[in-house]
Amino acid sequence: MLSSQQFDAVTQLFFDVSGIRLGEHKRPLVVSRLQKLAQEKGCSSLDEYVDTLLRQADPMEMVKVVDKLTTNETYFFREPQHFDCLARLVAQRKPGAAEFRVWSAASSSGEEAYSIAMLLADKLGLKGWEVLGTDLSTQMVESARRALYTQERARNVPQSYLKQWCLKGQGAYAGTLLIDKSLRSRVRFIGANLTQTLPEIGYFDVIFLRNVLIYFDNPGKEDIVNRVLTRLKPQGFLFTGHAESLANLNVPLKAVAPAVYSLR
Ligand SMILES: C[S@@+](CC[C@H](N)C(=O)[O-])C[C@H]1O[C@@H](n2cnc3c(N)ncnc32)[C@H](O)[C@@H]1O
Repeated sequence: MLSSQQFDAVTQLFFDVSGIRLGEHKRPLVVSRLQKLAQEKGCSSLDEYVDTLLRQADPMEMVKVVDKLTTNETYFFREPQHFDCLARLVAQRKPGAAEFRVWSAASSSGEEAYSIAMLLADKLGLKGWEVLGTDLSTQMVESARRALYTQERARNVPQSYLKQWCLKGQGAYAGTLLIDKSLRSRVRFIGANLTQTLPEIGYFDVIFLRNVLIYFDNPGKEDIVNRVLTRLKPQGFLFTGHAESLANLNVPLKAVAPAVYSLR
């Protein structure tokens, strides 16, 4: 059982860390996702678990709560128009241009970052580019670094990329695929909270900020977009999810294609 008071308390804690407001309609989700943590802690109810969480203020337990309450759905080559656009941008690069850097700014379990890497490796070879993936969830960052996926998640990966960059699991690993080491070595994953000061990650030609703004209200979206833009090279591009509108936000961007923006 989770009382209204404890629901408010735990969703406030989550908001303080993530910037994401989980309203009353998310109560079933909160209950189902925290149940297992309560059991692991030996608590007889969710109320008791939230009490313990508030009393102990254990940062490690809070990491687990954040991991549980974030929505991490993702897949390879999601919203394929962005990959066509990326291929065009890469084709326009001038000889001798600086390293091409792409940031997957809410990378979840890594499928987006590895999709970008496959395309860049195809167009540019294994040098002259880098992909960074960041996420709030430490569990997702670890999962992305492992780079091990079920084969059915890879249904949108082009056959030639599957052959070149994905190792089919055998024996105990049947039904899985592992991203090849040569590609993994070009992709880094670190933890970063988009609602707080960003780590030193340098500047990017393209930033994928997809399917994360949807969880924030307008001031939250504005805050994140403006912070992320401090990492965009002057001629760079920001990609957002096609369902995420930046209209009515106070951000210095102009739309150049659906869900593709450049600085004004
Ligand atoms: C639905 S996934 C999107 C994955 C990928 N970008 C895509 O479009 O398929 C949203 C991700 O945003 C992350 N996230 C939520 N709030 C965040 C925050 N404040 N800072 C960084 N990442 C956050 C979640 O942990 C989750 O992995």
